[in-house]
Amino acid sequence: MGILIDQSKKLCTIQTAHSTYQMGVGTYGHLLHYYYGPYAEGDFSAMLRFRDRGFSGNPYEAGNDRTYSMDTLPHEFSTFGSGDFRTPACLVKDDHGVYGADLRFVSAEVKPGKYSLPGLPAAFASEANPYNDRNGFSRDLYSVSHDKENTEIDHTTETLIITLADSTVGLTVKLLYGVFPEIDVITRSAILTNTGNKTIYIDKADSASLDFLTGDFDFVHFSGRYGTERLYHREAITEGVKSISSIRGESSHQQSPAAILCAKNTTEESGAAYGIALLYSGNFKLSVELDQFGSTRFSAGLNDEMLSYDLTPGEELTLPEAVLSYASGFAALSQHYHDLVNFHIVHGAWTHEDRPVLLNSWEGCYFDFDGEKVIQLAANAKDLGIDLLVMDDGWFGKRDDDTSGLGDWVTNEKKLGMPLSELAKRIHALPMKFGIWIEPEMVSEDSDFYRAHPDYAFVIPGKKPVRSRYQLVLDFSRREVVDAVLTKIVETLKPAKPDYIKMDMNRSIHEVYSQIAGYQNRGKLLHQYVLGVYDFITRLKEAFPEVLIEGCSGGGGRFDLGMMYYTPQIWLSDNTDAIERLSLQYGASFFAPVSTMGSHVSAVPNHQTGRSTPLATRAIVAMAGSFGYELDPAKLSDEEKDAIRTQIKIFKNYQLLIQGGRYYRLTGPSLGITHTEGYSATGYTAPEAAMAWEIVSADAKRALVSIVTKDQHCNPPVCYIKLKGLFMNQMYRISIVLKSTDFLDRREEEALTAPAYTGAILMQGGIAVPYFAGEYQSILLSVYQA
Ligand code: GLA
Repeated sequence: MGILIDQSKKLCTIQTAHSTYQMGVGTYGHLLHYYYGPYAEGDFSAMLRFRDRGFSGNPYEAGNDRTYSMDTLPHEFSTFGSGDFRTPACLVKDDHGVYGADLRFVSAEVKPGKYSLPGLPAAFASEANPYNDRNGFSRDLYSVSHDKENTEIDHTTETLIITLADSTVGLTVKLLYGVFPEIDVITRSAILTNTGNKTIYIDKADSASLDFLTGDFDFVHFSGRYGTERLYHREAITEGVKSISSIRGESSHQQSPAAILCAKNTTEESGAAYGIALLYSGNFKLSVELDQFGSTRFSAGLNDEMLSYDLTPGEELTLPEAVLSYASGFAALSQHYHDLVNFHIVHGAWTHEDRPVLLNSWEGCYFDFDGEKVIQLAANAKDLGIDLLVMDDGWFGKRDDDTSGLGDWVTNEKKLGMPLSELAKRIHALPMKFGIWIEPEMVSEDSDFYRAHPDYAFVIPGKKPVRSRYQLVLDFSRREVVDAVLTKIVETLKPAKPDYIKMDMNRSIHEVYSQIAGYQNRGKLLHQYVLGVYDFITRLKEAFPEVLIEGCSGGGGRFDLGMMYYTPQIWLSDNTDAIERLSLQYGASFFAPVSTMGSHVSAVPNHQTGRSTPLATRAIVAMAGSFGYELDPAKLSDEEKDAIRTQIKIFKNYQLLIQGGRYYRLTGPSLGITHTEGYSATGYTAPEAAMAWEIVSADAKRALVSIVTKDQHCNPPVCYIKLKGLFMNQMYRISIVLKSTDFLDRREEEALTAPAYTGAILMQGGIAVPYFAGEYQSILLSVYQA
């Protein structure tokens, strides 16, 4: 395993435990992509066919050979302007507006360890697993799935650097590859340098572009909207280009910088699945192109709309990291990403600690609180067994609604009735942990900060700003703006000794005009804005090294792997409806581990949908995340309070398994395009009947299974849900950990819990979805070795 360079064949092969990635230098020095897929050995350049294609460009050096065509060869990092008409990885123009880059191979070198990217998030090599020796779990729980056959695991990471250049244009490209062999992950990035003596313009720049000789793929992406983020979509690829993207200045609620290319027959269990995820929180584009000959190009990078990134002589542009993984089946692919995020992306305080169960004040009282009310919330939360009280929006400046105050990061002592330090001290004395909300990138026009620094906001001169949630965006591409906000926030929060900070961002960015740079949205500014945000969080973390920082952007507007590098958990959605959350958590689970998904139990009727669901159902859904509550405990009945005390005990009992175990989706559209899984013979479907998921320990001795019923029908057939990840021949028992209601027929409960089962029965037969009266019922099952 590792990176192998065969100088004689000009071949470069990356081997991971189960995958192989190969490229080589073509006859005229172009870097060609030969193969990416299941582990294989050999020289895949043998697959190329050279034919005379009409209307295709041939390099000059090819002379009379018309078979070496730039737009039919598979490229590793294509450019436009030298004969390839497909989506270019890099579009560069000179100062006369001429697009003619033609990158040729210069060198390849291998270095030990994993590269890092200045100012940008990047996966890193991690030696020890911090979960080691905790509660008897070993590293195995978190590294490679027990059902993989490999025994020798290479934990070393390596970096491959391939240099390409076009001396006429004055562009050098260093392609970076990081290899994580044990989890079948290959990261990519690139550094573009202007090596000429005139400014050049980068009009498109992909972090990774993947060419496949064939094209019979489906495209899986995760699109939605505010409050309904990351829904699973699967569609056939047809001729032309399909892209998903954001030009909102953030990775967005609408589309997600992570997607999958898969074979037609790919299901959770098997079939080729290629993931691409960007560690980036700004404007991005992922695209898939099916070309004239049925070849496919899958690419990911900065959004090229309105991009014209000027590179002056000597200047570099480092592209965000793209993370690729190949797996057989969606379950394994997701597990690769979960391991990557848990062990090679998330870092710092609280990464591998049991996250505190929190109570967030937002849905409990919105802007309507004072200090005594917050302390009372904390005391009531403590009585329930909650660890942390988060005081959400409304504690600073003049902020009784969302029309004013952003930017004034000074405690509103008049509203609170006390200094922040006193409030925090009284909460800490309970004892409870104390958390607080900030939204550093934004400013209200009605704020002292804006009145003092109107030039700090993005506003187009002579034009009234288009507002969103009544607020403007601060120009975080400017260091002095970041400094000013950071200094004030640190100064205000320090005396309170917070344990947690929720960092929010509540609007998209439209009019992009820096009062200093003096230009409109040319992409460069918004990229530098994202770098400014990363710089802000980095320095916030330095100021509060022990603090748990939760990301947020009106829920899931910036729920991406880039943000996860800085914030180990991110509020998944402002939508707290348990039934809606089933689809949101399902979609998010393809790339994000459970530990990253902020999930709370809220009051009913739900504030977003008006739906009422049982308290246990809300808890079972929220437990598949960074667990918390978002309601006013004073409004709960004694019975509900007792139920919550029990829920928290259950969560803490299983927290380590939930945060670190192997996650499997048990129902849902990804289980099979032919829907053979999770369906009963009657045509009545398990996904209609229920959503289910499972978290399995790596030794496969125990698992937690969650089932939530949806629609209820008269006289329904029995539906079976097949468990995963267990040993076929081991005996298991099932116990009920939590349920929202009693079984209609007690004998059915006995039928579930009395027998011992072989893994084969549970996985190949399945367990019956319980017949509960009413909809939205749920059950949490513990499966353990008998
Ligand atoms: C956003 C967040 C919410 C809450 C509000 C406060 O919408 O997603 O959780 O913090 O802002 O204004």
